Amino acid sequence: MVVLSSVGAVAVFYNQAKLDTVGKVAFDKELAVPPLADSKPDSSGARVFNLDVRSGETQFLPGDATATWGVNGAFLGPTIRARRGEEVAFAITNSVDVQTSIHWHGMHLPAAMDGGPHQVVAPGEVWDPRWKIDQPAATLWYHPHLHGQTADHVYRGVAGMFILDDENSDKLNLPDEYGVDDIPMIVQDRKFDGDNQFDDSAPFLSNGGVFGDEILVNGTRGPYLEVATRLVRLRLLNGSNSRLYNFGLSDDRPFKLIGTDGGLLAEAWETNRLHLSPGERAEIVVAFEPGETVELRSYPAEFGFKGTGSRTNGADDRLDIIQFRTAATLADATEIPATMGTTPDLDTDDVAQVRSFELSGTNINGLRMDMNRVDFGVREGTTEVWQVTNTNGYMHNFHIHDVQFQIVDIDGEKPPPHLSGLKDTVLLVPDRRYRLAMRFSDYNDRNSPYMFHCHLLTHEDKGMMGQFVVLGDDEEIGRVPSTDGGHDHP
Ligand code: C2O
Ligand code: CU
Ligand code: CU
Repeated sequence: MVVLSSVGAVAVFYNQAKLDTVGKVAFDKELAVPPLADSKPDSSGARVFNLDVRSGETQFLPGDATATWGVNGAFLGPTIRARRGEEVAFAITNSVDVQTSIHWHGMHLPAAMDGGPHQVVAPGEVWDPRWKIDQPAATLWYHPHLHGQTADHVYRGVAGMFILDDENSDKLNLPDEYGVDDIPMIVQDRKFDGDNQFDDSAPFLSNGGVFGDEILVNGTRGPYLEVATRLVRLRLLNGSNSRLYNFGLSDDRPFKLIGTDGGLLAEAWETNRLHLSPGERAEIVVAFEPGETVELRSYPAEFGFKGTGSRTNGADDRLDIIQFRTAATLADATEIPATMGTTPDLDTDDVAQVRSFELSGTNINGLRMDMNRVDFGVREGTTEVWQVTNTNGYMHNFHIHDVQFQIVDIDGEKPPPHLSGLKDTVLLVPDRRYRLAMRFSDYNDRNSPYMFHCHLLTHEDKGMMGQFVVLGDDEEIGRVPSTDGGHDHP
């Protein structure tokens, strides 16, 4: 018998830590497409959506079902679809037995409607936020945001997409038939224990929380999709707690990136690889040939994290995600227009304030989240530049509520095309300085903070998060926000 030294044990672990599922996924279940959420107009003309956060069971594996949470169902939630200019309203019922919240990731809206850690919904209670959609067509999402519990609640299955349309997106001849050639894809990793239950334990030496060895798309394990059109738009959401994906097709064919977090790019960008960190979205269009089979995969990340960080945090993994099976003849009625969205112009604004953020360990600027500390106030109507750096080499990203930002430069250089559009979450490659410009155009509320944080949910829960308020002229930061659960939050 060989007795390993601890160094030897670490080396063995390190070698086994790389996961490769290519060729090992059965692709024997048709991809589930989340239903579009129903709505009814209220007396004011707002469209009201009822969302019920509940627990249930989902059959992922043969044998025992898995205990899961979902919205209006057992796992994940319906896709909400709304138009710019429209008033939306929600009745969110908490039917699980602990507090939770629902946050609208990527949405520009008043802080009191944001569903962050201060908008707690107690068990049995209903929360009813409403706001007017006022931003370009985009692929957003919703998920719980209770401080310290976000990773757990998302991992159990509470998440869904929120698709926005506008006049510009209506006019484009992009693939846009939901579930046919316009496919939402919520990509999440999961680990199952011996009883078929979700296991959220972090691997040895991981600093990012759970890295699952099974990939679910819209809650389907081992999915395939029957394709009937030449062009297919995939709305990719990295809905994983910690895992970074580097998407690409199995034959390395190029695809077109048409949109990022905040909306459509001015022009499509052709690539064959695309990194998405937790919380980020991308809209891509893939061109298919009749009668073929091709897989979407995640390839090893193309940059490193320090030390053992890449290997033990999933960045060396290779994963099969979904198989596309195309029909013998493909409809061909859509196209990728030469111009789509608008180029962000925040970099030409006067900058009222420059702030710096260093992400290290699970701190931002050496601090951990404190529900009772508002870190700063920004002035309504101004543009700021936030300089954000990941200084410790672990994987981190950076997400800001309320705004979509423009990446002005990365270490002084213009961002690559996939980081040139509007974003609300950006992967932070270690030791590079990302300069983000954002405008706080309205919704001042000195008493209700918005969050900024790392979107690796384990890091966020450990306190890698801070709070800011939008202040009107001459206003100062208001009272410490109340964190009581309950019905309506003023
Ligand atoms: Cu997707 Cu503050 O969250
Ligand atoms: Cu958010
Ligand atoms: Cu982090």
